[in-house]
Amino acid sequence: MQINPAKKAAAEKAVTFIQPGMTIGLGTGSTAYYAILRIGELVREGMPLRAVATSVQSEDLAREQGIPLIDFAAVDKLDIDIDGADEADAQLQLIKGGGGALLREKIIAAASSQMIVVIDESKLVKQLGHFPLPVEIIPFAWELTFKKLQTLKAAPVLRKKDGQLFVTDNGNYIADCHFGQIADASSLHAQLNDIPGVVENGLFIGYASRIIIGCDNGALKEISR
Ligand code: A5P
Repeated sequence: MQINPAKKAAAEKAVTFIQPGMTIGLGTGSTAYYAILRIGELVREGMPLRAVATSVQSEDLAREQGIPLIDFAAVDKLDIDIDGADEADAQLQLIKGGGGALLREKIIAAASSQMIVVIDESKLVKQLGHFPLPVEIIPFAWELTFKKLQTLKAAPVLRKKDGQLFVTDNGNYIADCHFGQIADASSLHAQLNDIPGVVENGLFIGYASRIIIGCDNGALKEISR
């Protein structure tokens, strides 16, 4: 795989916030990937850490890296969650779920004291919405859920991969919704999650505590609250 220096730099900077003994949330995607590799190195150098993963893909990578994974029964609170995003704005609002892992990602983010988001500068936007908003819906009566999304002017498209319906780690479908510019993310979040067949949507509002942005010129920028 060709290395992406901006994503790698942002992810590795995020890992510097990890302290020995912490419980870590491992994100999903091509940027979180670099964080998982660096966390693996820390573990192999002897740092005591434990982790939970936001997807089967990240769980497999963590296992390969020798990162100790723990059962949710053993977790009350995570110290740091490090994850990517598809879009982020200056208010630390995010669109996530381009890889289809939004539900587990949101559960882990909500259980974490800090969520550090790692992105390259192409993901930083003035207003969310250019990237289609992923909405996870249950397969049962998905056609009805789809119609409800259409009434919200979502222009939903059922996600496919390699010509087959895309199925999440939780056995659900993803409707990619084209709202255009999202002026009021909180209100849209509430409207979407009010539809019975919607399990969760990819708007992450109030979760990120810090965004680390890797730039093409090698610089790093940060936004934090
Ligand atoms: C996974 O479902 C997503 O939420 C990812 O975190 C997001 O798509 C960012 O992925 P990349 O770092 O690969 O762009």
